[in-house]
Amino acid sequence: MNKILTFATCALLAVGINSCCNKNSCEKNQSGTSCLEVIKNRTSIRQYTDQPVEKEKIDQLLRAGLAAPSAMNKQPWKIVALTNKEKIKELADSTGKPPIAKSTLTIIVCGDMTKTSGNADDLWWSEDCGAVTENVLLAATAQGLGAVWCGTWPDPNRYNKARQVLGLPENLVPYSMIAIGYPGENPTPKDKFTEDNIIRIE
Ligand SMILES: Cc1cc2nc3c(=O)[nH]c(=O)nc-3n(C[C@H](O)[C@H](O)[C@H](O)COP(=O)(O)O)c2cc1C
Repeated sequence: MNKILTFATCALLAVGINSCCNKNSCEKNQSGTSCLEVIKNRTSIRQYTDQPVEKEKIDQLLRAGLAAPSAMNKQPWKIVALTNKEKIKELADSTGKPPIAKSTLTIIVCGDMTKTSGNADDLWWSEDCGAVTENVLLAATAQGLGAVWCGTWPDPNRYNKARQVLGLPENLVPYSMIAIGYPGENPTPKDKFTEDNIIRIE
């Protein structure tokens, strides 16, 4: 009886440890791609096919965005998921960003000024929104989508126009627009590694 119990406990532990490792490690996701590979494979994609992005994939993009770190965990953001073709076109025209016009999904990462300290020089929210933006770009790559960061912040002309087209309240500042879709081009990721940009203090 003891032997059976010991075997059962070991088997359960093995399953537990295995699933725990899978959950916590950064090795392989379901599609067999490691996060380091995703980071290296990410590159700006500006041409897309007409194939719409599935709701499940959009949800994963939004979850990845909302998982970003933020100063004092204020999460000073709102994310807009835009799939309406006319609005996408209007947004592209008013902000002068051609990749947006070609996208089937545009995600707009907005800073929520009601969640910042309220001091005009408190720009931590923009750091936070940058982290959200990069998370969305990586999640797009991981799901076989193409995406490009189109900057709005800190250009008031661009973020005011985006806010107006989207009908957002004054407290939301469109920080970035991410054009997303199934890739219509296949550029090689740039190799940006250079020791010139590194200072090693050992
Ligand atoms: C803050 C920011 C703003 C950007 N704005 C634009 C943009 O308006 N239009 C565009 O086509 N690409 C834009 N990009 C993408 C960059 O051009 C691109 O990341 C850069 O050329 C490096 O290429 P890679 O993304 O393929 O590594 C932006 C990137 C960042 C980080």
